[in-house]
Amino acid sequence: MPSSEELYLEYQGLLFPRETHSAESLKFAQEFTLKDDDVLSVTYPKSGTIWMQEILPLVLNGGDLTPIQTVVNWDRVPWLEETRLAQVVDKLPSPRALVTHFRYSFMPPSFRTSKAKVVYVMRNPKDVLVSSYYFHQMATFLEDPGTFEEFMEKFLDGRVFFGKWTDHVKSWRNAELGDRILFITYEEMVQDLPASIRHISGFLHRNLSEEVIQKIAEHCSFQSMKANAMSNFSLCPKEYMDSDKSPFLRKGIAGDWKNHFSSEQLARFKSVITKELEGENFSLPWSL
Ligand code: A3P
Repeated sequence: MPSSEELYLEYQGLLFPRETHSAESLKFAQEFTLKDDDVLSVTYPKSGTIWMQEILPLVLNGGDLTPIQTVVNWDRVPWLEETRLAQVVDKLPSPRALVTHFRYSFMPPSFRTSKAKVVYVMRNPKDVLVSSYYFHQMATFLEDPGTFEEFMEKFLDGRVFFGKWTDHVKSWRNAELGDRILFITYEEMVQDLPASIRHISGFLHRNLSEEVIQKIAEHCSFQSMKANAMSNFSLCPKEYMDSDKSPFLRKGIAGDWKNHFSSEQLARFKSVITKELEGENFSLPWSL
């Protein structure tokens, strides 16, 4: 089994999978020139990133399905920090949509001076942990998670790719980006996807008809994405992601943590996260 050092690159104090990241790609991202009309979806891993890779192009282009039917998600809305960006950046339609797992302090200086907008998707960290646990079982470029208990300790310590969940959330909640940032939750998207799409389209000043909103929601549902080869990672070689171990689009629900946490684990998880968020001037949209 490969060691953590073999799998991860440590860069500015955080771990990045070597398979998809390099010191050059991270430097490229941190020197990247963002444009005023760029739209970024920012997420901590396993919070709904690929969902936004589906939604954003459709909201930006008024519901034309071509991008989700013809371009794989990782090229359609690339990751700012991954090696792949340099190869596809010149082919991106305008306005460009990108995703990133960067915390705010990692963003390039051009982000601060541009008017680029951010849709920040936040997910209940208990479900993030569960989703990440299964992802670590199927993605060969990530460390074997061990038992759920062991993985929870790594997650709480930030010994996972992109570091601690709390640091990520705090960095973006405190970024003071005014009307350049929209905070939405994975849970509200699960509960009412058309309403979330309406919200995102209003934020991006797209005046979409109700018919287009419904069409986008239908094509961005869990079942539609699971059936879409451009979005379900079936085009990713099995040696990188083994969907027989766990599919990327796994359950797509809120609350799966209830099937995984013991009462002791729940108490420990709550106490660590609550302590780390003490004194912050924002509250979480769910009870822990
Ligand atoms: P689960 O593992 O809980 O199913 P990311 O894209 O940030 O890696 O997040 C992956 C998680 O988002 C997975 O959660 C995946 O199933 C879920 N997801 C992706 N598209 C979704 C959709 N259309 N509806 C609901 N959940 C979705």
